[in-house]
Amino acid sequence: MAPVKITGAVVAAAATMVMLSYCFFRFSSDKLDSCSSSSSSKKKKTKKEKLSTRNGLVDAIGNTPLIRINSLSDATGSEILGKCEFLNPGGSVKDRVAVKIIEEALESGKLFPGGIVTEGSAGSTAISLATVAPAYGCQCHVVIPDDAAIEKSQIIEALGATVERVRPVSITHKDHFVNIARRRADEANDLASSKTRLASRINVAHQEKTNGCTAEEQKVPSLFSESVTGGFFADQFENLANYRAHYEGTGPEIWQQTHGNIDAFVAAAGTGGTLAGVSRFLQEKNEKVKCFLIDPPGSGLFNKVTRGVMYTREEAEGRRLKNPFDTITEGIGINRLTQNFLMAKIDGGFRGTDKEAVEMSRFLLKKDGLFVGSSSAMNCVGAVRVAQALGPGHTIVTILCDSGMRHLSKFHDPHYLALYGLTPTAVGLEFLGIK
Ligand SMILES: Cc1ncc(COP(=O)(O)O)c(C=O)c1O
Repeated sequence: MAPVKITGAVVAAAATMVMLSYCFFRFSSDKLDSCSSSSSSKKKKTKKEKLSTRNGLVDAIGNTPLIRINSLSDATGSEILGKCEFLNPGGSVKDRVAVKIIEEALESGKLFPGGIVTEGSAGSTAISLATVAPAYGCQCHVVIPDDAAIEKSQIIEALGATVERVRPVSITHKDHFVNIARRRADEANDLASSKTRLASRINVAHQEKTNGCTAEEQKVPSLFSESVTGGFFADQFENLANYRAHYEGTGPEIWQQTHGNIDAFVAAAGTGGTLAGVSRFLQEKNEKVKCFLIDPPGSGLFNKVTRGVMYTREEAEGRRLKNPFDTITEGIGINRLTQNFLMAKIDGGFRGTDKEAVEMSRFLLKKDGLFVGSSSAMNCVGAVRVAQALGPGHTIVTILCDSGMRHLSKFHDPHYLALYGLTPTAVGLEFLGIK
């Protein structure tokens, strides 16, 4: 121990000497900074910070960790890796999409700072749009069905967006929440252009007035502030900015993080943006990378991928009034082909059940300390299915879309699950045939 102590003392003395000579140098060279130990540590800190800081909230989105899910990897003999999208600032994979949608709209001149981005969504995309819009000087207006969990609209409103809760009707109805959101963007545009027209007529001496207002003034809807510069409908299902967010971001990150050593990718689809962007990018890098869909109950995508037929006539979207899915998972499953999904390159599909997703979420929590939402749990069911299909020794990547915290009132509520006969009972992974 003695030599260690001596060495320590020598190092400390040397460090003090270096410090003192540094201070002396700073004084004698008459620099602006006063010499003190705090100023030198401040300087060092600034340098360190430069290496590690990101430029604002938007820059903190993406570059999420890719983690080995130890329990599933050990159980299957394949490396099962999860992309931790729940670590994005807005709490989900949709942060990337929100940024891309807004940036493309600004670049194309369809949206201006001071404009309002509208979306019809009860889910993560609305939360992400509300999170990132202020960083671009924009606002956000969200239209959601009034049967969506109340905490969702509370979060969106707390983020500073406006929320309109409407009666749930079929997608073919003009007052479906998605169609209202599209209309609200048009109204914001009308408001902005009517203001411009108003301003150009301001010098007209005698404007015709009814009840003290010009015709233009009477048209102004009260929903948006007078200062709005226009509206833009985000349209996450059909807007290919969604696919591009994953083609340019998530896909390349996965490729880099695995050093190209990846055999398969699997994910469920809502809009299809994630599966499309990631599958296209990976298969362009290496056509041997297999990409799979995992589909929740009630969704038509599994049939489309495996049999080329999406649904029976009775199941077609628009024939039902509300959410046509017979599932408790959120954000995934759909009965129409979106522009985003059509970009996907898929080699095969698996079906997952609600019970499997619930069991998987509890298994991940117990074994890995991972507290994930319903779509992430379904994705992990998919990863195990792929591992079983390919056999041991492969590397399989999936997405951990959001955290379990977003799902406290349903997916992670024991009473809610009991109501649907979904109380978890598994000890291990026996629900997927693994002893
Ligand atoms: C929590 C969550 N997970 C997964 C998805 C599906 O991702 P994608 O829309 O890219 O198919 C969504 C879509 O809304 C979602 O909200």
